[in-house]
Amino acid sequence: MKVTVVGAGAVGASCAEYIAIKDFASEVVLLDIKEGYAEGKAMDLMQCASLNGFDTKITGTTGDYSKTAKSDICVITSGIPRKPGMTREELIGINAGIVKDVSENLIKHSPDTILIVVSNPMDTMTYLAHKSTGLPKNKIIGMGGALDSARFKYRLAEALDAPISDVDGMVLGMHSDTGMIPLTSHATRNSIKVSEFLSDDRLVQVAEDTKVGGATLTKLLGTSAWYAPGAAVSAMVQAIACDLKKIFPCSTLLDGEYGLNDLCIGVPVIIGRNGIEEIVKLDLSDSEKAHMAKSAEAVKVVNGLL
Ligand code: 2OP
Repeated sequence: MKVTVVGAGAVGASCAEYIAIKDFASEVVLLDIKEGYAEGKAMDLMQCASLNGFDTKITGTTGDYSKTAKSDICVITSGIPRKPGMTREELIGINAGIVKDVSENLIKHSPDTILIVVSNPMDTMTYLAHKSTGLPKNKIIGMGGALDSARFKYRLAEALDAPISDVDGMVLGMHSDTGMIPLTSHATRNSIKVSEFLSDDRLVQVAEDTKVGGATLTKLLGTSAWYAPGAAVSAMVQAIACDLKKIFPCSTLLDGEYGLNDLCIGVPVIIGRNGIEEIVKLDLSDSEKAHMAKSAEAVKVVNGLL
């Protein structure tokens, strides 16, 4: 199993590290445009192998896409991260060109690969990857909901004063500070609806804190987060590599599902060796359906900037 990660910055390198530590891939190639950067990160990570007990071979390359040839999975993290006060959507001017170029270069050397798109604005970058590559729609997956759901579970566990292992929850919709839809009505604490433990007001606060989870960290860190984004991507890569048939909310191209067409947005999907094995139909309340429709409109506005 060969995995390429484009962008050896904090997110890409964290993703590579988690993949290596989980040790399900034979090879990870890190690619960056900054001279020597991917090679250095790869070497530093390989020097953890004897300490962290993995045999995955991590290599780095400066812009040589031939080194990515025949990758089963390619992760696109390249592009600029946001600064405090910025929205993800404001990155489109720079990141769209990068994602188009990277996608085209990747499939030249790995025509059968599965692409996971992380770069922001992620839903629109995922849509752009479709337009740039023509890959089958099951082979292009946008990573946002897996991260947002992890933040949702963190906030729920905090509010419940419960272990995160007891909490489950999912975030759908656009990967944006305003377009995210934390499904508080579906969230559970060990199979019990969280509304049995938390007031409506507290659940609203949990949802609001989730939606700005990325912005909160950008304000604290001065740049976008990287540990949880890297972990979320590595979990999706593992689900593909090991054919786990695991459900994640992911940005995927819709063709009538959830009443939506010709856009990529976060919905629950089953992820396995073929990438998106199935789009899962979830019964949404009227207000959740309205939020999804509004979120889709917001994605289409950003798509219109391409
Ligand atoms: C985040 O929310 C980078 O969009 C990513 O942290």
